[in-house]
Amino acid sequence: MTGDRTIQRAAEIIKRGGIVAFPTETVYGLGADAFNPLAVARVFEVKKRPSFDPLIVHVADPADVKKLAKEISSDAKKLTERFWPGPLTIVLLKEENIPDIVTAGLPSVAIRMPNHPMALALIEESKCPIAAPSANLFGYLSPTTAEHVRDQLGDQVDLILDGGPCPVGVESTIVSFLEEEPMLLRPGGVSLEEIESVIGEVGTSPSEDRPTAPGMLPKHYAPRTPIILDWSEKSIDLYKDKNIGLLVFQEPVNNLKLRPMEILSKRGDLREAAANLFAAIRRLDALNLDLIVATPIPEVGLGRAIVDRLRHAASKEE
Ligand code: TXA
Ligand code: MG
Repeated sequence: MTGDRTIQRAAEIIKRGGIVAFPTETVYGLGADAFNPLAVARVFEVKKRPSFDPLIVHVADPADVKKLAKEISSDAKKLTERFWPGPLTIVLLKEENIPDIVTAGLPSVAIRMPNHPMALALIEESKCPIAAPSANLFGYLSPTTAEHVRDQLGDQVDLILDGGPCPVGVESTIVSFLEEEPMLLRPGGVSLEEIESVIGEVGTSPSEDRPTAPGMLPKHYAPRTPIILDWSEKSIDLYKDKNIGLLVFQEPVNNLKLRPMEILSKRGDLREAAANLFAAIRRLDALNLDLIVATPIPEVGLGRAIVDRLRHAASKEE
């Protein structure tokens, strides 16, 4: 476990304009001082992230929303009271002083208070909000261990804080409050059901004239190996000559038992499945397979976030 001293060192790096990878309860982030545009620019550079894709600003105290956003609606406040610290990001109209590079020039800002002692200590010690995307190369799977970060970005970041595996395993749920009706921009670690139990109905399909999460390009969260979804016994013949690996929710596919297989949750628990998702896909991706096939996953609760990530990973559109 990384001790207080290391967190101090990490905070010094952030204060000096450096970049630090750190654990959160969802995935590892790659952080910089949100008020230092040059430091934030390095995050974009290291990730090879296009500049039109804004970052989430992480805070250690809900009161800091006031410094970042013009106002917080009562629904947004209710959600932060219920789910912060935790895997929920809210999108609000931004305060002028946030550098444009953080928000990709948008008039809004995404804010979240993570539920991880190291992330919170780092933000507190750095004495600034931390802008951080997931600590992976753009388009690839998010990292859920320090080793995942080291493998991809190791020599390009100033420090990696190791907090072990991320307990939630999928990114935060993003809800926008820019319109009359709250809008779900990305399903994630807090389920839609939980959110609606606090504020009532939430829109789920941003249309063209509505805001979307600009970074949610069709292809995202993708391994190098092609991945297809909704595997069925019928499709076995089609792929019989291929070197395939299986990503299954609970039950092994009987006649494919000898293939490399990752079971997300033997007891059929969607939380456990979410926590295992990215590491399981990475393990399959390391096997040089022709194809990864995923069996269906129930689209309720955290299953929504899992299916969303798999659909993006499987998308053929760039
Ligand atoms: O769990 C998480 O949210 C993780 C950890 C590190 O906190 N972070 C994360 O960041 O997933 P990233 O950059 O990989 O995804 C952030 C998403 C992007 O799709 C981006 O487009 C969207 O948030 N986003 C950021 N600011 C936005 C804004 N002002 N309006 C709409 N979407 C925004
Ligand atoms: Mg990401």
